Amino acid sequence: MSGERVLAVASEFYPLIKTGGLADVVGALPSALAAENVTVTTLLPGYPAVLAGLHAPAVVHRIDDLFGGPATIVFGGVGTAAVLAIDAPHLFGRAGNPYTMPNGQDWPDNALRFAALARVGAAIGRGLLGDWRPDVVHAHDWQAGLLPAYLRYGDGWTSGGTAPPSVITVHNLAFQGRFSTDLLPSLGLPWESYTPEAVEFYGGISFLKAGLLLSDRVTTVSPSYAQEICTPAGGMGLDGVLRARGTNLIGILNGIDTDVWNPATDGVIPRTFGTETMARRTANKIALCERFGLDPAALLFGIVSRLTGQKGMDLLPGSLPTMARHGASLVILGAGQPELERAIQAAARPIAMGLLLGYDEALAHLIYAGADALLIPSRFEPCGLTQLCAMHYGCLPVVTRVGGLADTVIDANEAALSAGVATGFQMAAPDAASLDRVIAWVATTWRDRPTWARMQRAAMTGEVGWARSAARYASMYRQVLG
Ligand code: ADP
Ligand code: GLC
Repeated sequence: MSGERVLAVASEFYPLIKTGGLADVVGALPSALAAENVTVTTLLPGYPAVLAGLHAPAVVHRIDDLFGGPATIVFGGVGTAAVLAIDAPHLFGRAGNPYTMPNGQDWPDNALRFAALARVGAAIGRGLLGDWRPDVVHAHDWQAGLLPAYLRYGDGWTSGGTAPPSVITVHNLAFQGRFSTDLLPSLGLPWESYTPEAVEFYGGISFLKAGLLLSDRVTTVSPSYAQEICTPAGGMGLDGVLRARGTNLIGILNGIDTDVWNPATDGVIPRTFGTETMARRTANKIALCERFGLDPAALLFGIVSRLTGQKGMDLLPGSLPTMARHGASLVILGAGQPELERAIQAAARPIAMGLLLGYDEALAHLIYAGADALLIPSRFEPCGLTQLCAMHYGCLPVVTRVGGLADTVIDANEAALSAGVATGFQMAAPDAASLDRVIAWVATTWRDRPTWARMQRAAMTGEVGWARSAARYASMYRQVLG
């Protein structure tokens, strides 16, 4: 069978709205899957940035009452991708971060906002838009987690239509969409759904758990993370649920969109690795150092990250003296938990350090294209995209041996170095001692220029695109369609 139509349902989509890698992945899959003869249409909340970014928008459906107000479904284009947006000003007409108020707290009506996304997704799956019906619906993360529940228990508008198969992808098990049970009636779900086999979770509701149990397949974004989340240590309370899915849980590694992350347009020549590549990288490093007043002759570590416990960013202040001992400097681009932002800002600085607290897409590109090594000391990492971007630009990632980091970075151990295949550095654990040790190892390796250049070549010529994984998604869609 070929020519499947997939409705992807998600809360982020690069380039319209992005807080992290979810947006990159959801934004990249339509063109990656087009190469597999799968047509993806993506349903998004109609945040102001989404509605403003749609090309040739057209209203294709009206809903009189979507959890407290009228809504329209708008179809439009973004580049070559097709997008449906839910224009519901009472739910999504708020600028800024899609999940939080300007003071950093979650919007109090997040349960309704994302139940609305899932409910409309399920309704479209059952034929709300008439002629256009997807063969498969694909929910991403907790924000779309209730979708299979609405398919199972009815969405209230289209209960006559047959339910298509559904798939859910877990991008991060830490976010589970947990809310009070009192909300259940207002979500339009029957009490029949309030069981441990559906939406009930420890006396409350979990959107993600509902998706994990009621969808036909569960995927996550790397094979190692698929194993980790089935253990009590990595399962965040959901390991039993995930183990119960058996072989219906699979890990499919993320790629990056190599048109967006293109070393040629960021001043580094891809794949034709040689003296010119190195000259371009040096020019980028000089530009980056000039911006922050750093010495381009020193080893330069970079960080591009959400500043959260997941990313191990609390380890950073303690590692600065080690970097100083090795004559390194550091540039940090990140935003996140206020207490971590404060701790990094206030840390004693024994080294030259550039710090930008905030979100800056262009600077992220320059850091990958100019820094020598990228620090990613994550405690857990479902996949991680920054290590892929870094390797693609010849910036060597320094990662913990977890999740997608373990699956994508080949450690500079003796065997890999002598085989010429090492692409980065793995640390054994997300702790201060391991970070200090790996910083020392990076500094020693960096001074050995021929070895460093061999590693850069291996990193830059490795495969980081979507081709292999798009084929795996396509084959999974074909499996659920029987
Ligand atoms: P996560 O989704 O857990 O934050 P990923 O590594 O999967 O981590 O994806 C992070 C994405 O967000 C990458 O595209 C990275 O370049 C980008 N990013 C993270 N922080 C920033 C920032 N402060 N400014 C610009 N881009 C950022
Ligand atoms: C999540 C994860 C990250 C992953 C991204 C895209 O934000 O934290 O590891 O790369 O989703 O799947």
